[in-house]
Amino acid sequence: MISFKLNGKSVSTEAAADTPLLWVIREQFGLKGSKFGCGLGLCGACSMQLNGESIRTCVMPVSAVEGQSITTIEGLGTEENLHILQQAWIAHNVPQCGYCQSGQLMSASALLMKNKAPSEADIDNAMSGNICRCGTYPRIKAAILDAAN
Ligand code: FES
Repeated sequence: MISFKLNGKSVSTEAAADTPLLWVIREQFGLKGSKFGCGLGLCGACSMQLNGESIRTCVMPVSAVEGQSITTIEGLGTEENLHILQQAWIAHNVPQCGYCQSGQLMSASALLMKNKAPSEADIDNAMSGNICRCGTYPRIKAAILDAAN
């Protein structure tokens, strides 16, 4: 059995140790906001936070999170109480197709936890592992800068 915190609650799983965390979160816990894109750790669609750091969960075995704290998009904000980045995402109409956006938000919120006033270069650096086929990068950057102010 592997135990960890998921969005602040203690949970456990009987999944095989090498099962990618993404599948455990989506299939066992039913949290479908995190997406499968490449499965190779390259696109960022599956991003969650491990102890506040953005990670690629399609290539992370669930055994690696024993005793750790995982946050998904479902733990970032609620419909009644949106995270400041979610508010900025809406204000800037960031998503186009939307598929990558939960991963984008998890990386952006990890950045703002470490750096409350990121420069454009800081944002480029922190967000470089999150790919958007619709090319929403300018709106993502504007939303992060807005939320940081
Ligand atoms: Fe995990 Fe692409 S699905 S990085």
